[in-house]
Amino acid sequence: MLLQLPQILSKEEVRAMRDQLADPSLWIDGRTSAGPQAVAVKRNEQLSQDSPVARALQAQVLAAVQRHPLFFSAALPRRCFNPLFNRYRPDFPAYGAHIDGAVMHSKRSQEWVRSDVSCTLFLSEPDEYEGGELTIHDTYGTQRVKLPAGHAVLYPGSSLHEVTPVTRGTRIASFFWIESMVRSDEQRRLLYDLDMNLLALRQRHGETAETTALTGTYHNLLRMWAST
Ligand code: NI
Repeated sequence: MLLQLPQILSKEEVRAMRDQLADPSLWIDGRTSAGPQAVAVKRNEQLSQDSPVARALQAQVLAAVQRHPLFFSAALPRRCFNPLFNRYRPDFPAYGAHIDGAVMHSKRSQEWVRSDVSCTLFLSEPDEYEGGELTIHDTYGTQRVKLPAGHAVLYPGSSLHEVTPVTRGTRIASFFWIESMVRSDEQRRLLYDLDMNLLALRQRHGETAETTALTGTYHNLLRMWAST
């Protein structure tokens, strides 16, 4: 499932984050953290993870995503990898087609996180750069994603994806992975649809015997499928 999460950050929050990310000494060649397949296609810069700025921004991104009403329902998070930040510009323009590693080791928490769901949070406005589309190849075909600053997209960690070359300007984004309580993308999708339709039914008709019963069905499915 590919899902947009609008307005994770306000424009003011994006501006404050961008001000902190403007320091050139914070950025390193993205190839330092790429696996053997990805290193051949990865041409971007990444925020050095060890700086105090990086730590503060990581916490801010996680808190913002977690307070978004759709995030829990769509991702059913069990744990999140600490958010990373990347930058693309004509000198470091693209990240060719790749699949992210299935399990990521967090230096911070010393935990392994399985990458069931990927999240990209855009921190540049679409008109600040040319190209730089997050392109996701999934079973429904190819999706091109370029969202306003402060908006995010969730997509299956299992998908082949790439960032097309930036030919003008700079594209800054944060991204991270989520290990979900429900490992299967298909099951997560069913739960999300049920949850969203229940919400709409409640808004239209208030609480009824049927919405109460279907809420029970939602929780019983989640109980059957979730690992905590
Ligand atoms: Ni990737």
